[in-house]
Amino acid sequence: MNTEDMLQEAERILRLNDKGHYTVPTHGLYPFQWNWDSCLTALGQFRLSPDRAWTEVETLMAHQWPDGMVPHIVFHERDEGYFPGPDVWQTGRPTPTSGITQPPVLGMVLEQLFLREDPDHRSESRCRSLVQAAARWHDWFYRCRDPQGTGVVALLHPWESGRDNSCDWDDALAQVPTEGISPYQRKDITHVDASQRPTAFEYDRYVALLECFRALKWDNTLLHDASPFQVVDPGFNAILIHSELALSRLADQLGDSALAHRLSERAARSIGAMDTLWHGDLKQYACLNRRTGQRVNSASVGGLLPLLVLPQGHEHVADLSIRLTDWLDKAPFGVCSMDPLDMRFDGKRYWRGPSWLIVNFLLITGLRQCGETELAHRVVQASLQCIQKSGCSEYYHPMTGEALGGGTFTWTAAMVIEFLNMDASQALLTA
Ligand code: SER
Repeated sequence: MNTEDMLQEAERILRLNDKGHYTVPTHGLYPFQWNWDSCLTALGQFRLSPDRAWTEVETLMAHQWPDGMVPHIVFHERDEGYFPGPDVWQTGRPTPTSGITQPPVLGMVLEQLFLREDPDHRSESRCRSLVQAAARWHDWFYRCRDPQGTGVVALLHPWESGRDNSCDWDDALAQVPTEGISPYQRKDITHVDASQRPTAFEYDRYVALLECFRALKWDNTLLHDASPFQVVDPGFNAILIHSELALSRLADQLGDSALAHRLSERAARSIGAMDTLWHGDLKQYACLNRRTGQRVNSASVGGLLPLLVLPQGHEHVADLSIRLTDWLDKAPFGVCSMDPLDMRFDGKRYWRGPSWLIVNFLLITGLRQCGETELAHRVVQASLQCIQKSGCSEYYHPMTGEALGGGTFTWTAAMVIEFLNMDASQALLTA
């Protein structure tokens, strides 16, 4: 596939999965609107139609909860092919939604959409409403997921991380009691081979957490302290801070200096708190189990994402770059989601090894910001090699580039469009 073919294929997939005002990640496996999928998809959509890109994120934000939370799934239509559906979540929203959230990439995406527009014809009022809604979402994070004011927020469900079955959650998930959960039937493994999906052990605990929160009527003033699973993820917090800074710059441009100041102050405090997540032995960031107070000895790609918030020349930039280079040497098709030397690494199983283009994109964004442009280019090239070999799949075996998970995948297609529009990516691809 040459670059023109890749671009055409990516555009075809965006249209294929377009439901008019939102996009499904892929038909069958994920038949609704997912939060961070939609936001990252808007970046690719912008190249086809700026108006459509703004609509994508507006649709998501129309389903923000009164307390500020933005749910991870919006169930726009009925579809029996997915578990757990709205009848399981029972969140009582006018349009059914899930009751948990997902990585807040919205802020960084809004800034990109805004900056890409012709300065004389910018969608200021659309952007202003979205910035205010996104800031309310961030307020919710710090209020409901960091009630002690530590500066970093906790995840209460592995699905919130977006990295569902990462090894990062193994210990904390094993502590989640499953007695008395309702019988259920998975649908994901009717679409994708079970060897590429989370295990039954993990699904039981995903359902147990859902039922625990449902029993509390999704009251976010109660969920944090009641949850048997509370993990502080450096990757998630880095995304939150990166978006917070983007929202602050946008608020400033849009003339709301009070909001800009409030967000930048909070981001500065949270950047300081990220130091508590540095793992000296692993030489990368790692999770903290807030319930037990223990550090999580797991070297996953989440621990490299703080590149998004480190300034050029920071001592940890070199450590993270060495680690990333080492992983690329061992597994050249994208960036593996787990250290390939870890005993638990599994190149086929979802977030326990496979590479994901959206994570590559976030790493590239961070690397460029830190001045690591050559390494950023290497990640672009490694990502496009997956596409050349296997098309736009959900994820890839990081050693072989084999297509894994769902096919004709929306956010992968959006990332292809992003990568092909980045400087020098085409030259690198043919080098
Ligand atoms: N990724 C989850 C799933 O596999 C939900 O967000 O269904």
